[in-house]
Amino acid sequence: MMEALLLLGFVAVVVGTVPGGQYAGDKVLRLKPENEQQLQFLREVAHTVKIDFWQPPSLELVTTNSSVDLRVPAGWVSDIQSQLEKTGLKHDVLIDDVKTVMEKQFDQVDLSSTRYNYEKYHEWIEIESWMAKIATENPRLISWFRIGRSYEHRNIFILRVGKRTGATKPTIFMDCGMHAREWISPAFCQWFVKEAVESYGKNCSMTTLLNNLDFLVVPVVNVDGYIYSWTKDRFWRKTRSRNRGTVCVGTDANRNFNAKWCSVGASRNPCDETYCGSHAESELEVKAVANVIRKYKGIKAYITIHSYSQMCLFPYSYTYSLTSNYKELNFIARKAVKALKNLHGTQYTYGPAAFIIYPSAGGSDDWAFDFGVKYSFTFELRDTGKYGFLLPESQIKPTCEETMLAINYIATYIANLP
Ligand SMILES: *[C@@H]1O[C@H](CO)[C@@H](O)[C@H](O)[C@H]1NC(C)=O
Ligand SMILES: *[C@@H]1O[C@H](CO)[C@@H](O)[C@H](O)[C@H]1NC(C)=O
Ligand SMILES: [Zn+2]
Repeated sequence: MMEALLLLGFVAVVVGTVPGGQYAGDKVLRLKPENEQQLQFLREVAHTVKIDFWQPPSLELVTTNSSVDLRVPAGWVSDIQSQLEKTGLKHDVLIDDVKTVMEKQFDQVDLSSTRYNYEKYHEWIEIESWMAKIATENPRLISWFRIGRSYEHRNIFILRVGKRTGATKPTIFMDCGMHAREWISPAFCQWFVKEAVESYGKNCSMTTLLNNLDFLVVPVVNVDGYIYSWTKDRFWRKTRSRNRGTVCVGTDANRNFNAKWCSVGASRNPCDETYCGSHAESELEVKAVANVIRKYKGIKAYITIHSYSQMCLFPYSYTYSLTSNYKELNFIARKAVKALKNLHGTQYTYGPAAFIIYPSAGGSDDWAFDFGVKYSFTFELRDTGKYGFLLPESQIKPTCEETMLAINYIATYIANLP
């Protein structure tokens, strides 16, 4: 009997952790191709080896003198490193062994606590029951409903957070988990909701916000992908929809919105990480988000949470043109980033995405902006590459605390609009 229990406990722990064995010996390298030859070398390598582009997410987005973070499979590391030397392409090793860092990402399992631990990453089933629980326990502040189903028929939920007044209040829409592997993003959406319920009636600024605004929060947009990143491939980015005529699965949800769809910085090849899909809003997850923004009255701001690279971006991504309210957006981003930095000194860059990162079309912030939501922001949370997508759980709290200050600044700005 005792042995059976022990065995069960062991199985439970193993099931709850992403298998890391497949990444043993993989390295994450950062390099900066300085001329056309070096760029060409990178193209050849990416052609022969299945390299995982972390930042930017695909080869096509790499330009001369831009920095590139790559996960190189163990079997190719020494080959590629020596070839890099020959080409004169300098590189830093960001992560020496992906498997080791993956294991260190999780804190020791805390079995004693029955309270929801916001300083841990959670699987989808845990997040789903957390939503039900927090909504049931806070009926005057939170309601939740389904906004659609994923490709694999899972429910996509939204939480409405704000004091019930009966009136239509100005609303801020915020989504997390559009890209599966960016785990800090769903962790932040959960943190935000926790902070709202815990500080309502206690913290003056949060109370005022929740009295005057509603927040619509989607903790995980890309549910299928998120689950896949927990069970099969930690570095999965896209949705899990099947594509015609190929075994390659998934579409990049943040290239699938109807904003100059697939015109730049996106791929027509279903095997690429930035595949834009068969048509705009081909992804059920994308359609679900867009439908809420189309139908819900009073949405004044759109915020989408990604990682990593510590940036606050705003439209446009699909063009180098500036928006008509560029000065105002730039002012808000500057102030939000300043508020964020005040807590732990974390530095963010900010500006229009096409300039700050690279031009790309089909993004959710551009689409929301063109639809009429004139305050539209993309956050790329911690870090700047030391851990990348493998940000340790010990950084969930400081990351979320500082991000709250940026969101608080934007929300207060929206609440005070005439
Ligand atoms: C890239 O950087 C190198 C070294 O700083 C410089 O010589 C070169 O002109 C730059 N190339 C471009 C395209 O900016
Ligand atoms: C209330 O919350 C805001 C924003 O999160 C924070 O800056 C402020 O310090 C909090 N005030 C108190 C009294 O805790
Ligand atoms: Zn992302």
